[in-house]
Amino acid sequence: MCGIIGIAGINNENVVNHIISGLEKLEYRGYDSAGIAVVQEGRIEKLRAVGKLQNLKTKLKNNPLSGGIGIGHTRWATHGKPTENNAHPIASEGVAVVHNGIIENYKELKFDLQKDGFIFETETDTEAIAHLLQREVNNGLSPRQAFQKVLGLIEGSYAIAAIFSSFPDVMMAARHRSPLAVGFGKYVCLGSDVSSISAICSDVVYLEDGEWVEIAHGRASFFDKNSNPIKPTKQKISDDLINTGKGEYAHYMLKEIMEQPSAIRRTILYNRIGGEIFHNVSRILILACGTSYYAGMVAKYWFEKFLKIPTDVEIASEYRYRTPIIGPNTLAIAITQSGETIDTLEALEYVRKNSNSKVAAVANVKNSAISRVSDFVFYTEAGVEIGVASTKAFTAQLVILAGIAFRNHEFLTREFQNLPSICEEALDLCDDIKGLAPKISTANSAIYLGRGPLYPIALEGALKLKEISYIHAEGFAAGEMKHGPIALIDDDIPVICLCPHNELFEKTASNIQVALARGKNIIIFTDLSGSELLPPETTKIILPRIHTEFTPIMYAIPLQLLAYYVALLRGADVDKPRNLAKSVTVE
Ligand code: F6R
Repeated sequence: MCGIIGIAGINNENVVNHIISGLEKLEYRGYDSAGIAVVQEGRIEKLRAVGKLQNLKTKLKNNPLSGGIGIGHTRWATHGKPTENNAHPIASEGVAVVHNGIIENYKELKFDLQKDGFIFETETDTEAIAHLLQREVNNGLSPRQAFQKVLGLIEGSYAIAAIFSSFPDVMMAARHRSPLAVGFGKYVCLGSDVSSISAICSDVVYLEDGEWVEIAHGRASFFDKNSNPIKPTKQKISDDLINTGKGEYAHYMLKEIMEQPSAIRRTILYNRIGGEIFHNVSRILILACGTSYYAGMVAKYWFEKFLKIPTDVEIASEYRYRTPIIGPNTLAIAITQSGETIDTLEALEYVRKNSNSKVAAVANVKNSAISRVSDFVFYTEAGVEIGVASTKAFTAQLVILAGIAFRNHEFLTREFQNLPSICEEALDLCDDIKGLAPKISTANSAIYLGRGPLYPIALEGALKLKEISYIHAEGFAAGEMKHGPIALIDDDIPVICLCPHNELFEKTASNIQVALARGKNIIIFTDLSGSELLPPETTKIILPRIHTEFTPIMYAIPLQLLAYYVALLRGADVDKPRNLAKSVTVE
């Protein structure tokens, strides 16, 4: 949610191209606008453009910028419309700031600053930071002193980077609840993620909450939340944090869908689930949002069946604002691709404050905030996920959760080994699935049905369709249809059913009959033996046979492909769906 980058060069070598390359890697975090600012001959020069980064690049061609130190931003708008005026960097007279997060007390700060004569020209909360820094610099403070003072005044969540016209070799940055990494190589760099700086940095320091850094004359000095100097350890940037591009694929999303067999294989290989996390556990509480929440819903079926531990699954943004009771011996599990989702992070904090529960995380991004606050971390080895709609991270989450559930069931543990190759077979059906897209692409609405652990997969299929194709879609437990949603069915609405030949087959098949009696666009994902028993007037995709417990993982894949091909037919920007951003660091 907003991406920030900063590069402090050497010998005044122009860093603009490096900033743009970094922004290309960060665009998945927001694409309402993009901007760049550099210090040029003692002045702040900035260029901003509404919309995708390409618009900024086009502008830069006609108005080239050059500077030895600079900051850049891709925006997902929170305060203020996505206009050029509200685009970052936001500047005061001689200070430019990029910010990811929300300054909660900006109204009070603005009021104070206005009394001091500062004129606000944007609708952003960030402008308060720029003017605060300017005020302190005008009062004679150094960038370091000014920054320290301003950090004491602002409240909320932020990753900030700032440059100063009168201090052309200085860049300041801080992190509080929004990610920020400091990279080292030929240059000292800042980036919301490591991918954005990995091309020019070999080592990295992840700032912790409250920490800040001064980069002056090519050297970084770090401070903790009490402004005491610290010496954090640098880590080598590992390959799995690097975005290697789209390769032969038209979109990241398609590439990431296709990578699932290897992501699953790696996730199985690298995760050994020990018994220690269940020591004294009599209840499991899963906290997550969006797609990760649906992974949690699947886990509930598995955990209660195989671990025999009662499991609650909670939408993190709701959980923390009611007064939930956390029973004794509860294990909280956060599921998150990014590891940064603020709702999930805050829900975990609620658990920490109100219980002695241990906290585990299932996360894809190493060293992310949620993984750092957890007692146990299981990393999904999906690799960097750039497509805004989560695909390979979701199936990798399911693999971890299944691994937890099945760990004492030798037969299932063995069956795991077949999962990647069966997923490959499912991916081989992509042309058949592409052929279904015209049956959905002109619809205004679509219904997804599933039973048991395939019910959350129906919800996930519907979410994938709506977020990338903008077709309204709803998932329902197939048995719930008759209690209301069936009123939606007519000849035009596609009804997409998940119906493997399992112990619930007969029930789902009769729900399908009921739908068929009222509509004619019924699409079923099933297997060979199921297909023979299902009505001929329906459209069927025959998926490979797989052990019933693994169907949620494998059935997710064709639904991702379906959403992808429908979105393509509708001309949507699959990797950057409107209004969304990859990592949701605002509430
Ligand atoms: C949808 C999607 C989102 C995320 C949600 C939580 O495709 O990706 O619904 O699942 O924003 O994000 P994480 O998993 O990063 O906590």
